[in-house]
Amino acid sequence: MKRIGILTGGGDCPGLNAAIRAAAKKGFQLGFEMIGIKNGWKGMLMAEAEILTYDKVSGLLHKGGTILGSSRTNPAKIENGLEKVVNNFKELKLDALIVIGGEDTLGVAVKISKEVSVVGIPKTIDNDVGETDFCIGFHTAVQTASDIIDKIHPTAESHHRVIVLEVMGRHVGWIATYAGMAGGADFILIPEIPIDINDICETIEKRVKKGRDFSIIVIAEGVKIEEKYIVKKGETDAFGHVILGGVGEILAEIIKEKTKIETRAINLGHIVRGGSPTAFDRILATRFGVKAIELVSEKKFGRMAAINGSKIIDVPIEKALEQKRIDKDLYETAKVFF
Ligand code: F6P
Repeated sequence: MKRIGILTGGGDCPGLNAAIRAAAKKGFQLGFEMIGIKNGWKGMLMAEAEILTYDKVSGLLHKGGTILGSSRTNPAKIENGLEKVVNNFKELKLDALIVIGGEDTLGVAVKISKEVSVVGIPKTIDNDVGETDFCIGFHTAVQTASDIIDKIHPTAESHHRVIVLEVMGRHVGWIATYAGMAGGADFILIPEIPIDINDICETIEKRVKKGRDFSIIVIAEGVKIEEKYIVKKGETDAFGHVILGGVGEILAEIIKEKTKIETRAINLGHIVRGGSPTAFDRILATRFGVKAIELVSEKKFGRMAAINGSKIIDVPIEKALEQKRIDKDLYETAKVFF
């Protein structure tokens, strides 16, 4: 019987449990023993694992978070960390490891892929993993942010205010663009495009002239002001990322100063990482989970499940590390409504 490990690393997101459930149930069908690794790469460093029973992976489809826990532990930054991971793979008698993660977590998988049989599943609300149209969690994050825009609209309108809504998106503006489009935002600001304050203020003022004396601006946390990230805390995580946050508030102040219109700022932060996955994410996670087990059984290691259009495909994991930036045509369509 084959023993297959599965881990979830990096920021959590809705749909992780659906992927664990799918991989485990498909694995059971093929007679595999499924081993849950605790807290991402941290669990592989400490050999912390548990056998996944049918009971443990049942009733998970709609649950947010991850039953396995997650961490931003980076074995490459720990003395002999990668070696320890490889040794513990043997210690735990694993035949393969399914790694569910974003760019950082999958990057570690690539580093050990010569010694360890790995298969990847892309997840991140930021949706910036390369070679896949969508990652687990993105769709739910968009739905949450767009629901919030619907809630913000009436109060912005009643008080004739500009409300700036900040959403996650460290390097890319997928959540901001999709949620902004779905919620009818009047301006969408993303890390891929340098900010032009005058353009934003002119847009707001033009709206006032047209009798629309309120505006909703959606901004991704990774947008730079005067070429600098706005950081909440200077300290970095194991992958070298600072904690972002606060760009929305700064932008709201600038707009107020320039236009003299009353502004408010809201930072959605981790809210978009929570809650129950949308139907789309449940199905995507389920298809990715099943695909990952198929890749294991076909010995297609070093590959990642991905979606291209409506088809589930597999791609080399290292390709996933080429960050997927916003689609220019999509942003142009969003701009029609600014
Ligand atoms: O999962 C990616 C992400 O959502 C980024 O957009 C954000 O900057 C980061 O996670 C924050 O995560 P944490 O606070 O868990 O380190």
